[in-house]
Amino acid sequence: MSNWWRDAVVYQVYVRSFADGDGDGIGDLAGIRDRLPHLVSLGADAVWLTPFYPSPMADGGYDVADYCGVDPTFGSLADFDALLARAHELGLRVLVDIVPNHTSDEHPWFVEALAAAPGEPARERYLFRDGRGERGELPPNDWESIFGGPAWTRLPDGQWYLHLFDPRQPDLNWRNPLVRADFRKVLKFWLDRGVDGFRIDVAHGMIKHPDLPDTGLDEQISLLGRGELPYFDQDEVHEIYRDWRQLFDSYRGERIGVAEAWASTSERLARYVRPDELHQAFNFALLEAPWSAAEFRKVVAESLATTAEVGATTTWVLGNHDVQRPVTRYGGGELGERRARAAALFSFALPGSVYVYQGEELGLPEVLDLPDEVRQDPIWKRSGGTDPGRDGCRVPMPWSGDRPPFGFSAGESWLPAPEEWATATVAAQESTPSSVLRTYRDALALRREHPALGDGELEWVDAPEDVLVFRRGSDFLCATNFGTEDVALDLPGRLLCRSDAATSWDGVLPGATAVWLGKIHEESA
Ligand code: NOJ
Repeated sequence: MSNWWRDAVVYQVYVRSFADGDGDGIGDLAGIRDRLPHLVSLGADAVWLTPFYPSPMADGGYDVADYCGVDPTFGSLADFDALLARAHELGLRVLVDIVPNHTSDEHPWFVEALAAAPGEPARERYLFRDGRGERGELPPNDWESIFGGPAWTRLPDGQWYLHLFDPRQPDLNWRNPLVRADFRKVLKFWLDRGVDGFRIDVAHGMIKHPDLPDTGLDEQISLLGRGELPYFDQDEVHEIYRDWRQLFDSYRGERIGVAEAWASTSERLARYVRPDELHQAFNFALLEAPWSAAEFRKVVAESLATTAEVGATTTWVLGNHDVQRPVTRYGGGELGERRARAAALFSFALPGSVYVYQGEELGLPEVLDLPDEVRQDPIWKRSGGTDPGRDGCRVPMPWSGDRPPFGFSAGESWLPAPEEWATATVAAQESTPSSVLRTYRDALALRREHPALGDGELEWVDAPEDVLVFRRGSDFLCATNFGTEDVALDLPGRLLCRSDAATSWDGVLPGATAVWLGKIHEESA
């Protein structure tokens, strides 16, 4: 067993926005296959592909109409097989995104359930209930959809069905053994094709409290939250993962499961990665932490302690297709970019596994000024235009050239890229030694080579306020300055890598900068 996931670098591809092979303006599997060398040169061990299954795309493909196919927009099963084979040739593992909490309203199971009368078995696959009020005119409880509005929709026959997300994403009833059996078949379908594992969407949501009690909340809950709710993180959800783990382990090649789970505490999150459950759970704590030495240190200490308790490693995530890009979150502009670069180096040096969302390696900011008419995220519509939603982090990758869509597509891209991304393209950054891309490549190459990096222990070193210094093994130090002023540090070692454009190290760490130091003994000898 190599336990490859314990310190893997996983690159997240948002399929719609990575590379378009057929010129229709939408990314696809053939486009990804041709761009895999980018992941290899970046230093990724694995790629996670967001959903590419047949879907009416009410939520960017997280509304699946057939779990065992490929949407024609993205290609065919043959394209998937070709992508998988190429990735394996290049030494990349492939994780697919499985969406077990809900289906599309166009999934045959839901179509069948709608055609059935209330109380018939076909309805038992989902959560249908009678309403409250004299004539059942009120929803069965007070749950709100995470995308805005009530979590229940009423049918002409009077019953209501539950959808924690969009009305076009009905929630499955995981207390029904049929649902469990069917999902096992789906997992086997992809395992037999050779995938290396699954990212599990809303992994904390599949089991609802049996009584479907009111939450008593009058506030809208957000997509990503830590509240204790009767539809999230129920103890029985873990039975499902124990069963899935047995299935994964029955295959050769260390197939893994990664939970997209939100839990009220990091102890509860660690329960998803107990030895007989999943291999990884996204740790969103760093992504949620403000840019502050104290906050970052707290998150690191807590995340390491809680996962170590169950014998797992943690994951470090700075962004994904659901949240504002780090450059913008950390203040935007030059300062935001400096901080995002430093945060990346900081996280790459930590024990555990690292996730990189496409475009982070280019320092892309959130696109804040997309025209309303191109926005597609259901959050935008369901919030009545008050929440811009997640399209701003899903703008297609700029590859080359000086005009949009920057080599992403031969046609017009589904979301327009800003003109100023001409300097952010992969091609432009490849030829600039101090670029974000070159820094990522250098850092990830060092991370792979350096025996102290990846899995292992971390030891904090005393440092001035606003600065965090930690040691990995006896020959590696990472120092990060979260402040704005230069700080003189008395640290041994030679420069291995730094997050800003400077190329040497004189012991003075500028604000919003991280450095890696090595060859510590050599110098002090
Ligand atoms: C989490 C996914 O990352 C997000 O994009 C999606 O909208 C929800 N789950 C619902 O599937």
